Amino acid sequence: MEEKKKVIFSGIQPSGNLTLGNYLGALKNWVKLQDEYDCYYCVVDLHAITVKQEPKDLRRRTLEVLAIYLAAGIDPEKNTIFIQSHVSTHSEASWLLNCNTYIGELFRMTQYKDKSKRYGESVSAGLLNYPVLMAADILLYNADLVPVGGDQKQHLELTRDIAQRFNNTYSPTFTIPEPYIPKSGAKIMSLQEPTKKMSKSSDNPNSYILIMDPPNVIRKKINRSVTDSLGTVKYTDDQPGIKNLMTILGNIKGMTMEEIEKKYEGQGYANFKKDVAEAIVEELEPIQNKVNEYLGDKSYLEDIYKKGAEKAYKVSYKVLRKMQKKIGFIPR
Ligand code: AMP
Ligand code: TRP
Repeated sequence: MEEKKKVIFSGIQPSGNLTLGNYLGALKNWVKLQDEYDCYYCVVDLHAITVKQEPKDLRRRTLEVLAIYLAAGIDPEKNTIFIQSHVSTHSEASWLLNCNTYIGELFRMTQYKDKSKRYGESVSAGLLNYPVLMAADILLYNADLVPVGGDQKQHLELTRDIAQRFNNTYSPTFTIPEPYIPKSGAKIMSLQEPTKKMSKSSDNPNSYILIMDPPNVIRKKINRSVTDSLGTVKYTDDQPGIKNLMTILGNIKGMTMEEIEKKYEGQGYANFKKDVAEAIVEELEPIQNKVNEYLGDKSYLEDIYKKGAEKAYKVSYKVLRKMQKKIGFIPR
């Protein structure tokens, strides 16, 4: 008998335009995992509305994120690709898990603390409950592994706690998932404040590179990126800007930090920055072309997300039914 493949679940929010951080921290790894695992890759639109979204932008970005998944190399024949709001089990399971989560746990989440500061009085309850929906996403497929950037580690730990609690309260129901965080690229930093993470929600477009930024914009942004006055290409915490550019270059070109240091020894930054920019352009340009092709074929995209949702629903519904039964709901 064929051995059952282990399961992977991951998602990206269509809450802004995707950045190089999303690509190197998450997407690029998803592509590597698709042959070995049974993968579910989701466009998490329910998560996106935890902060205000313009409906027409949300619609456009949801399809764009889907097209980026495909263009980055995620094969719809091998993986289940779907849109979160199409599969109602996610919202339903999320409620059940909310009743098995403590608010203290949610208030302790770093991402909640950071984001809620930005919104003051008008923080939605959704923003607080966001990690519970994420737990539902993962547990509904009994995922073994969750490939994410380093910023999601805490949410994964909470998912494990919630799963364990449910298993203990009722009886073994969920697989306890493991995070899968890349060794290099887990945290791509802002180009303007390299001690902060590169984020699509930043107000300063020079701080991030978008997957869809045209080549000349990429070159300009790298050229303007903040470095230091030391003038040596060295991988050290004292030079966070250079360190970040080295991480980007190393990740794309498959070079070690030592190799990069050696290559640019005694050269200053101009040449190094130029090579970083060209590496990014080379990596992203073919993806951008494919994204535009996919976006021009809406019926193909529709075909993929419909099939994906059907499969995802079938698999997750079984787990949801199990949860409902164990909780004590009467089956209809
Ligand atoms: P989000 O943009 O918050 O939906 O994140 C989608 C995925 O990209 C998650 O796995 C994040 O951990 C990852 N990610 C986001 N920003 C970065 C970054 N600057 N560096 C590395 N990974 C990131
Ligand atoms: N919270 C994740 C992020 O912002 C996105 C996400 C939602 C996710 N559900 C998930 C990631 C399930 C992995 C698994 O990055």
